[in-house]
Amino acid sequence: MSALAELKNYIGEMVELQAAAAIAHWDARTYMPERGVETRARVTGRLARLAFERLVSPKFGELLAQAEKELESASEAERAMVRMGKRDHERARAIPPDFYQKFVELCTKAESVWEKAKAEANFSLFKPYLSEIVDMVREMAGMIGYKEHPYDALLEEYEPGMTTRRAAEILGNLREKLVPFVKELQERGTPPPPIPEGKYRIASQKALCREALQAIGYDFSAGRLDDSAHPFTIGLGPGDTRVTNRYNEAEPFSALFGALHEGGHALYDQGVPPELYWMGLAGGASYGIHESQSRFWENQIGRSLAFWGFFKPKMSRRFRVFARMKPEEIFRMVNKVEPSLIRVEADEVTYNLHICLRFELEVGLIEGKLKVEELPERWNAAMKDYLGVMPPDDAKGVLQDVHWSGGSFGYFPSYALGNLYAAQFMEALRQDLPDLWSRVEAGDFRPILSWLREKIHRFGHMYFPEELCEKVTGAKLSPEPFLRYIREKYSTVYRI
Ligand code: CO
Repeated sequence: MSALAELKNYIGEMVELQAAAAIAHWDARTYMPERGVETRARVTGRLARLAFERLVSPKFGELLAQAEKELESASEAERAMVRMGKRDHERARAIPPDFYQKFVELCTKAESVWEKAKAEANFSLFKPYLSEIVDMVREMAGMIGYKEHPYDALLEEYEPGMTTRRAAEILGNLREKLVPFVKELQERGTPPPPIPEGKYRIASQKALCREALQAIGYDFSAGRLDDSAHPFTIGLGPGDTRVTNRYNEAEPFSALFGALHEGGHALYDQGVPPELYWMGLAGGASYGIHESQSRFWENQIGRSLAFWGFFKPKMSRRFRVFARMKPEEIFRMVNKVEPSLIRVEADEVTYNLHICLRFELEVGLIEGKLKVEELPERWNAAMKDYLGVMPPDDAKGVLQDVHWSGGSFGYFPSYALGNLYAAQFMEALRQDLPDLWSRVEAGDFRPILSWLREKIHRFGHMYFPEELCEKVTGAKLSPEPFLRYIREKYSTVYRI
């Protein structure tokens, strides 16, 4: 057997273990009975360990080295398999297993302390744990290695190839333009009408979510829609990509946009060729690119005027209160901009400012220029500067996100980059499909999905995000398409 074929088998086995872990994980978050927690933790712990042992094993390293010698006659996918396998193997081996074990245990403890600290709005409870986590993360950055900045080593996990310098440039540029634009909307704009108060039947909301998913091309014969506390998408392998959602009886839009968001992730997953999946090349080019697909369907399509031309009749059939409205009213209603305290509830204009703030604080912590005890004060000052709002306590401020308690540093920028990629992809799509909006209005999403499949989905995890971005749009990632999109759309919504 050739070394490449042997490597493919080896990686295939790791992917099988990941798929088994994914099923256990999906079940734990949807249907598992309360008392199943301990058994499930034991099983998923074992599966994660088996997968990790294979990832760091010297045998994997040897297979990769052997396969590298056969690359001349290899396919592009095989070359990507070796490149990505090597990258993951080296990153995982950089951290000694004992150190990593200690880190996982610390984070497990820290997460439950964080929950308590958040419930009591008491940062001092969480502070010693966060200090220890930051120290260990800084140490890990050193172990992984970096060219310029320790934060590069962390970004690399979520956004391969992205550097602190470049992220600072992109996000800084974004912040400079967004802060005054939000002010302008508030001072000169006409705010959209509010969402009508009422009781929106959950069964009807679920039916609408299914209609929306079906319309955009989510394949229900290769997926499911279930309930969970927080919406998520999970790929269990070719032919099985599941989404979950949650519902609020007081308003029907958060569930609908949740479904479109998760649907965007799921379409990406359903569009990756099976052979790439078994080579460890599913999962998307990066977290940011994955998020671009969810934001694309949620915001670029779902929150467009044309979409409401198509979807309003469906909405009115379930909820009569919308029957007498024009699509334009709903379009404005679902695009309300309001500086707020909580990132996950933020609209698409202010959302990225929440990310800018977190990015700047994380970089400060990792550089060692910012101390953990200074965090709440710095957080609040930045909220005031960027959004003009002041958290009444730390629960609605520095303690709101779970990420730091779980040891995830370098993750936040991917959310903002996802918004930027989505806008840049949309500009490229509009060039290729000039009648885009009339298609959307007619509910014909097939040419859009085909374009995404052709340009993005079919490559899975073969390319780094910037490589893919250049392939799709002919340019490197830039905040300009997003800023153009925001200015144009919200000048209409706010009538300025
Ligand atoms: Co998402």
